[in-house]
Amino acid sequence: MAQNLATSQPSWKKLQQLYESKGKSLNLRQAFQADPARFTKYSRQFGDAGLDISLLLDFSKNLIDDDIFAELLSLAKQADVEGQRDAMYAGKRINTSEDRSVLHVALRDLRGEFNINEEGINEVVPELKHMQQFSEAVRSGAWKGYTGKPINAIVNIGIGGSDLGPVMVTEALKAYAKRDLRPYFVSNIDGTHMAETLRECDPETTLFIVASKTFTTQETMTNATTARDWFLQSAKDEAHVAKHFVALSTNTEAVTTFGIAKENMFRFWNWVGGRYSLWSAIGLSICLIIGYDNFEQLLEGAHAMDKHYKTAPLDQNVPVLLALLGVWYNDFFGAQTQALLPYDQYLHKFADYFQQGDMESNGKFIAKNGEPVGVETGPVIFGQSGTNGQHAFYQLIHQGTKIIPCDFIAPAQSHNPLGEHHAILLSNFVAQPEALAFGKTEDEVRAELGAAASSNDFLVKSKVFPGSRPSNSIMVKKITPATLGALIAMYEHKIATQGFIWHINSFDQMGVELGKVLAKKVLPILLGKEKNDGHDASTTGIMDFYLSNK
Ligand code: F6P
Repeated sequence: MAQNLATSQPSWKKLQQLYESKGKSLNLRQAFQADPARFTKYSRQFGDAGLDISLLLDFSKNLIDDDIFAELLSLAKQADVEGQRDAMYAGKRINTSEDRSVLHVALRDLRGEFNINEEGINEVVPELKHMQQFSEAVRSGAWKGYTGKPINAIVNIGIGGSDLGPVMVTEALKAYAKRDLRPYFVSNIDGTHMAETLRECDPETTLFIVASKTFTTQETMTNATTARDWFLQSAKDEAHVAKHFVALSTNTEAVTTFGIAKENMFRFWNWVGGRYSLWSAIGLSICLIIGYDNFEQLLEGAHAMDKHYKTAPLDQNVPVLLALLGVWYNDFFGAQTQALLPYDQYLHKFADYFQQGDMESNGKFIAKNGEPVGVETGPVIFGQSGTNGQHAFYQLIHQGTKIIPCDFIAPAQSHNPLGEHHAILLSNFVAQPEALAFGKTEDEVRAELGAAASSNDFLVKSKVFPGSRPSNSIMVKKITPATLGALIAMYEHKIATQGFIWHINSFDQMGVELGKVLAKKVLPILLGKEKNDGHDASTTGIMDFYLSNK
């Protein structure tokens, strides 16, 4: 049997021993008491003065000590994280199943600092120029609809990576938005999504962006056709489509066949993965809503993080550190999830975005050598903006039986400094990791309850917080375009690093295909065009129910 690529590293075995000998019983109260320098030792800062980015990563509230930390760093070395990372930046075909390079870093490398040589690289900057010209024309009102009115609604039609990035970023940077340009994002094939959106739009003043890397995705093409039919009901003349439909794609032929002129197409390339595409033409809706200059700042912020990831030593490298801590819990503690908890309302789509970013990348069971990976790979990502999550699922994080590593994220400055709101928000951002790490002992509960403690033992036990529950705290100065760019790139590189350690291909997504194929097969049955046979009893039964109730 072939060697297991992940566990064959000597560090993997040592980490297993360290988990058994001290990791699983590490007590954070004691660890902090024993080492007053723990915060200094286990925190890092990332910054870029020119872009006004300051980021603190405090990872001191993790279940690590010096031995464990050193061994995690050895694991990164032994797994050749640096070599695999360098291969990515060099444009090697690291997405081996699809024989593609993985070059989203090139989209943010506006001055060619990484010296990447790949087809299309020279078109990155001209395509950005195209996006700039177009977005400025729309924003200024120079671009007119078919009756001569300026555009006031943008409908991005796309799904997955052609939707989630633009949705998340336009929400995150709403403070920078042109408020009289309303953004809509239609992704779901459920007709309700399109119908409810069109209800709020006027065909004379709406711009549709058909965003699809392949331009074959069923949901997007069906929604785009419906939008075009709706538009033509008013506009009547196909010639008007040019004023109201643009395409973002790698597939020129399909775009032209759909009826969108070449000059209204914004291109990107096969080496841009869908879930890494917000930095490409897929970001056109972002440009339109927050303006090109802010979009460029987003790219620059990501580029600053790209340089950090490429050059910082492993023990200083913020994405690498996040990745190693994630592997520690995922593979040695058996944690199944990872919570992303931004204390910033503008980041309310951050966890949704990284559900695709992480789960589509690292939800893999086959290693690069074609053998079963043999270790746990990507965790389930979930999250919610603080403090809403506190009133929903934090109970389980504090007192449940599962270990849920948490990333708390917050800005020092709010875009909306209303009274004491931000200080109160941040008091929660600070308090939650503290409560998780240090908990509350039975003695403390008894002391707090006084006489009531002796009459109700169950009450006492119910109020105990076990503590030693791990978290990272990530604080930035402010959620500016540049800082957001750096934050997103930080997580992208964390995810890639974990894939490198597990020796999986984080850059394909074959797991989404089977369902799509089967849906195409059953559609004629649901439409009544074919008989309901040839499927298993369950599938047949569900379709029977539908056919008799539709
Ligand atoms: O179904 C998953 C997926 O392939 C994603 O990876 C991708 O982001 C999404 O579909 C949309 O694909 P496209 O941009 O080609 O329409």
